[in-house]
Amino acid sequence: MSVVAAELETKLPLDLDHPLLFEMGTPGASAASMSESDVPTVDRATLIDPEFLADDAPDMPEIGELDLVRHYTRLAHRLFSVDANFYPLGSCTMKYNPRVNEKAAAMPAFAGLHPYQRESDVQGMLELLFRLRTYLQEIAGMAEVTLQPSAGAQGEMTGLMIINAYHRSRGETRTEVLTPDSAHGTNPASCAICGQQSTTVRSKPDGRVDLDDLRAKVSSNTAALMITNPNTVGVFDEQIAEIADIVHGCGAQLYLDGANMNAMLGIARPGDFGVDVMHFNTHKTFSTPHGGGGPGSGPVGVASHLTEFLPVPQVIQKDDGSYAWFDDRPKSIGKVRSYYGQSGVLVRAYTYIRSLGADGLLNVSQKAVLAANYVAARLRDRYHLPFDPPYAHEFILIPKFETGGVTELDIAKRLIDFGFHPPTMSWPIAHCLMIEPTETESLATLDAFADALLAIADEVESTPETVKTAPHTMPIARMDEVGANRKLNVRWRPEV
Ligand SMILES: Cc1ncc(COP(=O)(O)O)c(C=O)c1O
Repeated sequence: MSVVAAELETKLPLDLDHPLLFEMGTPGASAASMSESDVPTVDRATLIDPEFLADDAPDMPEIGELDLVRHYTRLAHRLFSVDANFYPLGSCTMKYNPRVNEKAAAMPAFAGLHPYQRESDVQGMLELLFRLRTYLQEIAGMAEVTLQPSAGAQGEMTGLMIINAYHRSRGETRTEVLTPDSAHGTNPASCAICGQQSTTVRSKPDGRVDLDDLRAKVSSNTAALMITNPNTVGVFDEQIAEIADIVHGCGAQLYLDGANMNAMLGIARPGDFGVDVMHFNTHKTFSTPHGGGGPGSGPVGVASHLTEFLPVPQVIQKDDGSYAWFDDRPKSIGKVRSYYGQSGVLVRAYTYIRSLGADGLLNVSQKAVLAANYVAARLRDRYHLPFDPPYAHEFILIPKFETGGVTELDIAKRLIDFGFHPPTMSWPIAHCLMIEPTETESLATLDAFADALLAIADEVESTPETVKTAPHTMPIARMDEVGANRKLNVRWRPEV
């Protein structure tokens, strides 16, 4: 066992048999001590229809404060999180989320607002949102940005709706969207939601779009090409301007899945390489804790010929300098979510951008790219890198040693014993691990991670069973992952 793994074993309280709250406690114990109420008690039956009242109070755990605190602290120690561990989950940009963002988002002037408040009462928030959209416009080189969509995937849907509205305004109905074979799963799913057929465009062995296949497939029925660049195999497709020309030549639009903007800030602007519509994953690029499904935000930027189709309301600055919601857009696709957007995530994005400034953002992407290329270079001799460097902010590797039946899943699980979150696995190509170090890790952490993967490569050859049965430091080594997803059972039932 490695030193890190051994250390972890002593730090983590791993006993799975530790009781649940419902199984703990002593009758009469309580975690709260409150003074006697001086409010007259009211008979419950006078307030609630007796039909809805049970005879007994619910069977709640009765537990003292210290035991309660220890219970939750014990559970919290079992969490794998960016705050506790390196989290190189490819395609997810699990960077450190600066605490100043949280502080800003929690300020009562933001967190305490209600969407029905008068514009005159919420000028500060409106100003922040207006400034944020202008920053995003500048960063991406797009004419206008809407902050409304709640996630990257909803941004994709919004972008496709805008593209469809544009084609319809020209008297055309285009029913097909092209997506490269390396596309994120949400791309074809968004096409389906918008009633469009998605057709796959092949990539070449170097990970770039096969332009011949693109030319063969684009037609007068193509609404758009949805491309991710840098793409999901970690390479920036330098043919992008030519791709834009091919797509535009057929009257179609170029949609950029901008979830990988972490590699491009201050380096390249989608609007400058021919993109008509794009979404940001602000929770990734501009840092909001987003593991476990949320929260997210997926602002959409469009070129000038598409601004009239953007969702309403849009935040604007009036001639007198004040801020307002604007909805006089007859050709707008309408609203794509309730109210105005995922405001907490947007405050965090604004804070992040302001605290770094233009130079800081450039530095983010330069370091993210450097980190990915550094780790890849350290692993080159023991792992197969199917695509050639330079990489953008992430890269893919495939075990190239005599694996002796060891799979990418085993290697990912073994990394847990070394204190690292497993990378993305088996996507977008078979048997791969996809690694995104991000810019926020120190050289020492990057080296420790590379050392761990090299040590695992040795183990696969010397003691493959150690890898196949990993992790050895977690309460549960291997679970039935399909069963856990398909037959979710999170309800505690008392033993009778
Ligand atoms: C390339 C790419 N596109 C789209 C998405 C979807 O974004 P979201 O999870 O916010 O819906 C992701 C998610 O990480 C992504 O990596």
